[in-house]
Amino acid sequence: MADSDKDKPVDPHLDPTNPDNRLSVQRRAADSEHAAKILGEIPERSRPDQPVAPRMRKKAGKGLVKEVGSTGHEWDGITEYDNPMPRWWLWTFYATIIWAVGYMVAYPAVPLVNRATQGLLGTDYRQEVAAEIERFDQANAAIQTRLAEVELAEIPADSELLNYATNAGGAIFRTWCAQCHGSGAGGARGYPNLLDNDWLWGGTLEDIHLTLQHGIRDPKDGDTRYSEMPHFGTDGILDRAQIDQVVNHVLSLSDQPHEAGKAAAGAQVFADNCAACHMEDGTGDRTQGAPNLADAVWLYGDDHATLTRIVSEGPFGVMPAWNTRLSEAEIRAVATYVHGLGGGE
Ligand code: HEC
Ligand code: HEC
Repeated sequence: MADSDKDKPVDPHLDPTNPDNRLSVQRRAADSEHAAKILGEIPERSRPDQPVAPRMRKKAGKGLVKEVGSTGHEWDGITEYDNPMPRWWLWTFYATIIWAVGYMVAYPAVPLVNRATQGLLGTDYRQEVAAEIERFDQANAAIQTRLAEVELAEIPADSELLNYATNAGGAIFRTWCAQCHGSGAGGARGYPNLLDNDWLWGGTLEDIHLTLQHGIRDPKDGDTRYSEMPHFGTDGILDRAQIDQVVNHVLSLSDQPHEAGKAAAGAQVFADNCAACHMEDGTGDRTQGAPNLADAVWLYGDDHATLTRIVSEGPFGVMPAWNTRLSEAEIRAVATYVHGLGGGE
């Protein structure tokens, strides 16, 4: 054994004669000097290198008690003693276990397939929530019925109804509408801004109400608001040069940079192909949901590339009808909310 140890080549990382190890050799020497100094100061019994056998010691009124020994674990000169947990800690721990068992027996606790165990006190949070909702529904029933039955035009004039509808409508908006129109109703590309007074289909309370009831281009609703802009490029109605011309004309309508020559030629293309829906001057037609092209508000974008794509492929914005998901009172509430956002007419 010793022989084979001797034959082994010395690990160069541990070799004390290797000048590269100078620092760690020095550090180790300093460490052991330091340790020796500390050990000299610690009484014999608690020195970590001598695991202490439990000894018996006299304690006032208790006869002989076992003296605490070391677990034999030692890190960096710190010895781990084998002390029991303090009594107050143990009792608190047992108390929490007893409390938990008592709680599980008294209250719903263990999840089963369809519901949790009932508990002796018969508490049922599901029923409590249902009862709470029921209570609010009953409290609001009268005003909801009134909201659903009055003439639409009367709502803004009736401060109690208006107040209720605006608050309830705001909550409905955040639940059902914010995904598309944004939580602040500011809209996004393809989803109109509902804050401004630029309306595709109309901004009176009646218009908004109808838009919400039946949706826009919802194939499942026979009364939905419907119109379809032709696909001028993909259906070969106009060639690329004509589309470029009419796009320049549209840019000129809203005073944006454009090529004047193309725009002039585009005016004729516009009159022949677009004016029926967007009007001669491009101001749009709400009965068809055809946007105003002469202002600064754009549903899809105002740059040359977007306009070219829109004219070539034709836009087809869809909003679902809400009368299958929301009650009449809810539709009226959210219509009132949208109407009150600032752009209502
Ligand atoms: C799935 C997306 C989507 C959701 C959800 C949605 N909308 Fe819309 N909404 C649209 C689109 C798209 C349009 C524009 C359709 C078009 O191009 O004519 C629109 C149009 C409208 C308009 C007509 C705006 C105008 O200028 O005439 C109103 C008002 C409106 N939404 C309100 C709501 C309200 C209130 C809700 C919630 C109950 C809602 N929307 C939920 C997509 C959505
Ligand atoms: C049959 C009616 C109809 C005709 C014809 C028509 N449009 Fe449209 N246009 C619409 C409708 C409806 C929309 C809105 C569609 C939507 O909301 O998805 C629209 C939207 C647009 C938009 C998007 C506006 C925005 O705010 O982003 C542009 C641009 C446009 N049309 C240009 C034209 C041009 C140019 C022509 C002629 C080459 C034309 N349209 C012909 C009905 C029409």
